Amino acid sequence: KKKIDYQGLHQAGVITKEQKNVSFISCNVTVMTLAELKMLFKVLTARITYLTQSNNLLVNDNDKIPPFESGMLGGHLDPDSLTVTVSLGANLFDSRFGLQQLKPRHLVEMKSFPNDQLDPNWCGGDIGLQICANSPESVVYALRDILQHTSMYIVPRWKMDGFLPSRDIDNKTTPVNLFGFKDGTGNAPANNTDLMDDLVWVTAKDKEPHWCIGGSYQAVRLIRFNLEFWDRTPLEDQENDFGRHKITGAPIGMKHEHDSPEYETDPHGDRILFNSHMRRAEPRNPERYTAKLRRRSYSYSLGINNFGMLDMGLIFICYQKNLQKGFIDTQKRLNGEPLERYIKPFGGSYYFVLPGVKANDDYLGQALF
Ligand code: HEM
Repeated sequence: KKKIDYQGLHQAGVITKEQKNVSFISCNVTVMTLAELKMLFKVLTARITYLTQSNNLLVNDNDKIPPFESGMLGGHLDPDSLTVTVSLGANLFDSRFGLQQLKPRHLVEMKSFPNDQLDPNWCGGDIGLQICANSPESVVYALRDILQHTSMYIVPRWKMDGFLPSRDIDNKTTPVNLFGFKDGTGNAPANNTDLMDDLVWVTAKDKEPHWCIGGSYQAVRLIRFNLEFWDRTPLEDQENDFGRHKITGAPIGMKHEHDSPEYETDPHGDRILFNSHMRRAEPRNPERYTAKLRRRSYSYSLGINNFGMLDMGLIFICYQKNLQKGFIDTQKRLNGEPLERYIKPFGGSYYFVLPGVKANDDYLGQALF
């Protein structure tokens, strides 16, 4: 099945079209020296190369040692559009490794926003791994392989699995989230390279340490939905909360998903309320992309909480070249939005996505050492 190229200026999994499944796992580094940290990135690079590019399963004949692989894929290695995207948390740049001077300028610990109820068990971490593929078993296979091979360097801290609607395997339609709305319509097109350099990737023009070029800031937010309440909310209110029609995804009063909301013809917010999620998030003023970010979110489903309510929601993930102008400023515009009645952010973290691996003998994070 499909292999996604993992080499280049950038890592895969950032502007790559969303695969159907994700596991986001945040880990703490347990080693204490820079040399060991470097080894970790070499091991990670080797595992990612193998898992995303190879069809040749390694088989061991010696039954006195653990099998080389979990067996989960029934004896076939199948990358299944697998991407593994490696990112670094702010804490990695504390005094442990002497990397303080190399910290990306905007990388900070995530602070609580007014509607947040952050649980420390679901926050933080030195290293983020976003593992995506088109089936849950391909994701879990990669996850187990990576954790097995890196167990002497990192220890998992929190993990959240997510999914997107699986019917449209060719990704022809915008994925629908658990509120029943198309999510991603207004995203900047990934095939516009200049726009991606403006919004997503750190370039030589940005005032960042040189090693950051080709990387990106990653904001991850775990957001619980109150679906019992939502499912009892009139359709008109649901649509006004987003500023879009539910089934078509069209801006209110319009027909097609990709119709422009034309805020200039609605200066008083009669049609698309000023309070709506889309108008707050993206006022298209003064320019089309006021929100300088690109979203790549997934739904999650855990179980039920102590009150017998569904524990479901969104793994909101977005990428940006500048964390402040991207996620933080956009979230500030959203603070107080009517949608807050139905959502409760409880975890997540900020990370910096390492630049890509440019050649076979290169490894992730090489420019850091
Ligand atoms: C647009 C859902 C959180 C930023 C949208 C749309 C939906 C949606 C349905 C309209 C379709 C689209 O353009 O994709 C949600 C849900 C959220 C959530 C359910 C969590 C509960 C966030 C957060 C941010 C954000 C935390 C950033 C801080 C945006 C942006 C747009 C958007 C920039 C594009 C608006 C446009 O271009 O017209 N969101 N979103 N969203 N959302 Fe969210």
